[in-house]
Order: sequence, then C-alpha cells, then structure tokens
Amino acid sequence: MINILNFAIIFLAIFLFKNEMCYNIDMKIKSLQLKNFRNYENLKMKFSCDVNIFIGKNAQGKTNLLESIFYCCIGKSFKSIKDKDIIKWEADNGYISLTAERKYRDIKVDIKLSKQRKKTILVNSLPIKRIGELIGEINVIFFSPNELKLVKESPEERRKFMDIDISQTNKRYFYLLSRYDKILANRNKLLKNSENISYVKETIDIWDRTLVQTAKKIAFEREKFVQNITPYTEKAQSYLSGGKENIRLKYICGCQVELNEKFEENMMKLLKKNLEKDFKFGHTTIGVHRDDIDIFLNDVEVKTFGSQGQQRTVALALKLAELESMKDITGEYPILMLDDVFSELDSDRQKRLLKFANRTQTFITCTDDKKLSGTLFEIENGKIIKEEKRS
Ligand SMILES: Nc1ncnc2c1ncn2[C@@H]1O[C@H](COP(=O)(O)OP(=O)(O)OP(=O)(O)O)[C@@H](O)[C@H]1O
Ligand SMILES: [Mg+2]
Repeated sequence: MINILNFAIIFLAIFLFKNEMCYNIDMKIKSLQLKNFRNYENLKMKFSCDVNIFIGKNAQGKTNLLESIFYCCIGKSFKSIKDKDIIKWEADNGYISLTAERKYRDIKVDIKLSKQRKKTILVNSLPIKRIGELIGEINVIFFSPNELKLVKESPEERRKFMDIDISQTNKRYFYLLSRYDKILANRNKLLKNSENISYVKETIDIWDRTLVQTAKKIAFEREKFVQNITPYTEKAQSYLSGGKENIRLKYICGCQVELNEKFEENMMKLLKKNLEKDFKFGHTTIGVHRDDIDIFLNDVEVKTFGSQGQQRTVALALKLAELESMKDITGEYPILMLDDVFSELDSDRQKRLLKFANRTQTFITCTDDKKLSGTLFEIENGKIIKEEKRS
C-alpha cells in the first residue's frame, strides 16, 4: 500500500516538474512526422512546449519545417505555391502528420500528398471534405522578413492578413469568403460575356442582392477585427520600439459605403450607379475585394513615409497583436512562428520580441547561435543532427 502511495507521489512530482514550464501555455504542437516533404525524406520529432529553435546554415530545411507545421494548421503553405511543389522532387507521394494539444482536447492532423491526386486531410483520423473543417483546430501566427509586404505592398496582402486571422477563429467567415468569391466571379462573368448592357441590367439583380448581403457580413467582421487588434498593435508597437512610436489603424471598406444599418441599401444604389462603368471594364469596381487597412505611424502613412526598420516593426506589431486578439477570442494563445527575424531587428527589439514569445509555444529559425533559451534543433540537409535543451 505504502509502495503504491510512494509511486503515486513520485509520478505526480515528475508530471508536475515536466509540465512546470508549460503551465500557462494552452495550445501546443507535440510532435511532427514528415515523409518526402520538401528536402525531408523521413523525419520524426517531438517539440518542447515553450521555445523551439531550428538552427542551421542556409538551405538546410529550417523554413521547410515551419511550412510543414503551418500546412497542418491552415491547410496550405505560407508560400504561394502549388500543392505538389512541397513533395520531395524525386518522390510521387508525401505525408505530414502532426499531433497537438489544446486546453480541453488533443488533435491529430494527417495530410497525404500526391503528385497525381488531390491531397487528403484527416483530422483525428476522419477525412475532411473542406479546408474550413481544419482551420481553427490549431491556431498559428507566422512571421518572416517577407511579411514586410503586409505593410509595404498592395491591399491584397492586408486582406490576406485579415482573412487568415478571422477565419482561424470564425469558420462562418471562412465560408462567407468563398461564397463572396463565387458570387463575384459570376457577376464578373456576366459583365464580361454579355453583348449589351440592357441584358446585364435585366439579369444582374440576383447577383447584386447576394453580393451585397455577403459583403456586409464580411465588412462588419473585418471592421471588428481591425478594432480588436488596434489597442494591441499600439501596445506592441510602443513595446517593440521602446515607447517611441504611436500607431493607428483604419479599416477602409472597398464597398465605398458607411458601415451602418443602411449598408445594403446604399451599396445596391452604388452598384446600380456604377453599372455602366463595370460593364465597360468587365468587372465589379466596388466591394470587399477592394478592402484595405490604412496604417499610420505618428500620424503619417507608414507605407509611404516609414523607414524600413519602422515598417518592419509595424509588421511585427500587427502579428503580435493578432496573438493577443486570438487569445481574447479563443481563450488560448496561438502558436507563434518566427522565421529568420533576428537578422532584421536590432538587439533591443530582439530582446523585447523574445520576452513576448514567452507567452506561447514558439518556433524560431536562425542561421547562427543566438544563445536563446529553449530546445535547440540543429538542422543539416533535411535531418536533425543535434538536439539540446537550454535554460
Ligand atoms: N520539393 C522539394 N524537394 C526537395 N527539396 C526541396 C523542395 N523544395 C525546396 N527544397 C529545398 O529545400 C532546401 C531547404 O530550404 P529551406 O527554405 O527550408 O532552407 P532554410 O534552412 O530555411 O535556409 P535559409 O537559412 O536560407 O532560409 C532548399 O535547398 C530547397 O531547394
Ligand atoms: Mg529559411
């Protein structure tokens, strides 16, 4: 009897010790298995619940590892590529399997990739029909130097930012987006392929009504999202920059009408008013497919007037704000991925970023040893050649 009691106490002590580091981290990836994924032929690894560092020379497979995890969370890559490109060049089939843990449940995602067929995704061993069934199971925020385009480049980047974020916490929104795209494509087809405008006038009403209804829902969600992240972006920006800079975000609705109870009525009127122009161009000139976010730093537009370093910090602040707003919505911090970000930040900003990263399970890639604490995985030519726990 005493032996059993001793055994139970020792077991409990080991359990508590092992979980001590993760007591405040709810969502975590536990393990990953890859077969013929990019430059990985065969890989099995277990992760630490806090900071995981992938270190290695250029072109060894650090970003590929992040990509495989991201793929299991979102159902596609963060690079704009075809599905078959992620399968190892010499192989016909590939496989990713990932296990994760959330506050109240475990999740297993298996993805079977084929160069000949469409991929199959299984969540907890059940095949899913639509990516919407996967999104939101494991929430993730990805950041790389490439994310600078979020601030600098076209509105499409900022729409993608809103869409990936909102979809992860709101499946209905994800389906709304694909509904909107279909309606818009049909409306544009009618505008482009019709011989004369009188035929368009007679038949377009059905598309306009559904377009307006869907646009309204999307616009209200996006505005809410921008409002939610604004205070967190302000906080993250002043935290990263040491309190020197002030940020302001403004959602710009491409429907060109006020977001109020008259939204549908006003947008319908505007669609009618623009019909001749739309017919001439062969596409719809207003709608949420034209949305944007204006970003101001110390009251000037950061896209045009911000320095490279400021733009980089703003992009990072937006991502860290996502982290906090997702926690507000789901009650759990998402997974954070930082690909090669340290080379781009000064040492003060690096330290502040790492402090922030402590709130969540983090995956970091770097080419040289930054002496970070966490579990270090050294990667060479698609293999883990060393694993080391550092405190
Ligand atoms: N489908 C594929 N099959 C085999 N190898 C691939 C495939 N796609 C990409 N690779 C290779 O994987 C290698 C590693 O790429 P990855 O982007 O992960 O490197 P990295 O370690 O992040 O390097 P860096 O430090 O330069 O960012 C590259 O040499 C690339 O050519
Ligand atoms: Mg890389």
